[in-house]
Amino acid sequence: MRRSLMSRSENRAVPANSSSAANLKSDGLLDSNLLSQCGALMAAKATDPGSVLITGASSGIGRELAKIFAAEGYHPVLLARSRDKLQQLAQELKTSQGTKVTVMPADLSDPEAPRAVFERLRERGIDVDILVNDAGLMFEGDFATIALDEHLRLLHVNVVALTALTRLFLEPMLRRSRGRILNVASVGAFLPIPSLATYAASKAYVLSLSEALSEELKGTGVTVTALCPGFTNTAMVRGSARGTRLPPLMVMDAKAVAKQGYSACIAGKALHVAGLSNDLATWGIQYLPRSLVRTVGGLVARQWT
Ligand SMILES: NC(=O)c1ccc[n+]([C@@H]2O[C@H](COP(=O)([O-])OP(=O)(O)OC[C@H]3O[C@@H](n4cnc5c(N)ncnc54)[C@H](OP(=O)(O)O)[C@@H]3O)[C@@H](O)[C@H]2O)c1
Repeated sequence: MRRSLMSRSENRAVPANSSSAANLKSDGLLDSNLLSQCGALMAAKATDPGSVLITGASSGIGRELAKIFAAEGYHPVLLARSRDKLQQLAQELKTSQGTKVTVMPADLSDPEAPRAVFERLRERGIDVDILVNDAGLMFEGDFATIALDEHLRLLHVNVVALTALTRLFLEPMLRRSRGRILNVASVGAFLPIPSLATYAASKAYVLSLSEALSEELKGTGVTVTALCPGFTNTAMVRGSARGTRLPPLMVMDAKAVAKQGYSACIAGKALHVAGLSNDLATWGIQYLPRSLVRTVGGLVARQWT
């Protein structure tokens, strides 16, 4: 399967063929002006880190990730529903970093959206070198009190769209033998949480998928990283009953989480839990019997609802 996705020609490193260029020059077929322009173009290509598609770029962790990637010289493609917020961020990044930014408004709860985004970028000739699946939503409350449509919308954005985008953009990455995928899961992926049952389950899926792919893709040049933030000061947490009751010490800054996510992604790490206390907590959970894990999830839910 993997072999069939890789094209031999794109797989091959293509060094600048200086001897044939010199022959052409000596034959009078290339003038020195054109040669120096080609050299400049090749140098620019060699140092250009490429494009990064970031879903959920209109706020919170996604917005901070977009700023970091832009500062590192990447060309961000910003995706979310809020066109105005994306345009404002694009303007900010173009002015501060002088990088090319593309705005891609889309609603990922629409099952057609991932394919439409993939096609639009292909038509515009944009190769996605890094895919950041950050968009997500959360509903709190007893499972039976949340409308079925809300559960399904959450699953579409957190699970279905993330899977579809990963599948679509992975294929060209494999052909080029390089690429990075950063999937934003959560500390909630490590335990079932009553009153956040569907959300925690969706993040467990993201974590499992990402870890499986990171193993499956070894040796291909493409890496998949799961980023697991704990409570982070964003609109998602600020707007929740849980967020308003949290002691400030338990809440991380979105910028700090994004920085850690960026580093883990570039390093090609399979998993990164943001923050030392979250890291220790998720490490400890692995050694608890399952019945105790359920009890801890119940305590977390009761403490902050
Ligand atoms: N904050 C935390 O404590 C925390 C903890 C663990 C994990 N996370 C995860 O971190 C990620 C980012 O969340 P955040 O905390 O930064 O929250 P946020 O500020 O609310 O950001 C969520 C982003 O997702 C986008 N989004 C939501 N629904 C969408 C849809 N249907 N189509 C396209 N985009 C959509 C939103 O943009 P529009 O509204 O403009 O569409 C926004 O840009 C999420 O996956 C979340 O589950 C957060």
